[in-house]
Amino acid sequence: MSNCKIISISNQKGGVGKTTTALNLAYALAENGNKVLLIDLDPQSNLTMCFGIDRPEELKTTIYDLMMCVIDEKELPDKSKCILSFNNLDLIPCSIELSAVEMSLVNVMSREVILKMLVENFKADYDYIIVDCMPALGMLTVNALAACDSVLIPATAQYLSAKGLELLLQTIVRVKKRINPHIRIDGILITMYSERTKLSKEILSLINDAYSEHIRIFESKIPVSVKVGEASFRYKSVIEYDPKSKVALAYQDFGKEYLSYGN
Ligand SMILES: Nc1ncnc2c1ncn2[C@@H]1O[C@H](COP(=O)(O)OP(=O)(O)OP(=O)(O)O)[C@@H](O)[C@H]1O
Ligand SMILES: [Mg+2]
Repeated sequence: MSNCKIISISNQKGGVGKTTTALNLAYALAENGNKVLLIDLDPQSNLTMCFGIDRPEELKTTIYDLMMCVIDEKELPDKSKCILSFNNLDLIPCSIELSAVEMSLVNVMSREVILKMLVENFKADYDYIIVDCMPALGMLTVNALAACDSVLIPATAQYLSAKGLELLLQTIVRVKKRINPHIRIDGILITMYSERTKLSKEILSLINDAYSEHIRIFESKIPVSVKVGEASFRYKSVIEYDPKSKVALAYQDFGKEYLSYGN
């Protein structure tokens, strides 16, 4: 048995910080001495672009090709061809081609577990595999949920206070019942938080009332900061770009908090 933990970072709401969280959690875990593989499972390929790959469509091997290998029951390319390495982080990149996989999956047997079958090949080499999901609850996200041990949900306070999570939680419950009985929810990470306003404190207490009985809401909150945009412009995690900034410290604290709950 490998000790690899597979984390899916999911929320069907767009622009809530999934990709930023995937990158910075991966970076924080790697800084703690863990071997981490990131998988970009969003055809928008934002995570791939975070690594300076501006034209993902020119990549030779992406998650699309690897999933197609599993679907077609073909042998995978050599690991060195599947995975890109950047200092302490590894990445299976993505390109827009991945959007075609949803169509290809329609007539495939066991279509929900293609990603699960794929990651089996890499688990032995990593402590954590982090999957960055697209903002939708289609077959790709179901594949991520089927493959993972746990789900981490980044969300803004406004979205949570509008009870926006119901659909995601329903989907996780259905996946748990039918495909992946072991799946757990790690918790909700509040992103783009501005603690100065009285409103956000009120919203926070509403959220705690609505969710905290059932789901962990991480103590660490990620503040709004222009540093996030600046860092991605430089192709860096914000922890690497400006380690002393509030948002970098928040992601580092979150990494420690995440680890403190154990696997
Ligand atoms: N804490 C933050 N402060 C300010 N801007 C942020 C913060 N986190 C993320 N952003 C910015 O908000 C935008 C959306 O963030 P991100 O791409 O991480 O969200 P996402 O949930 O992955 O989006 P999508 O659903 O499109 O995949 C990006 O432009 C990012 O730079
Ligand atoms: Mg994203």
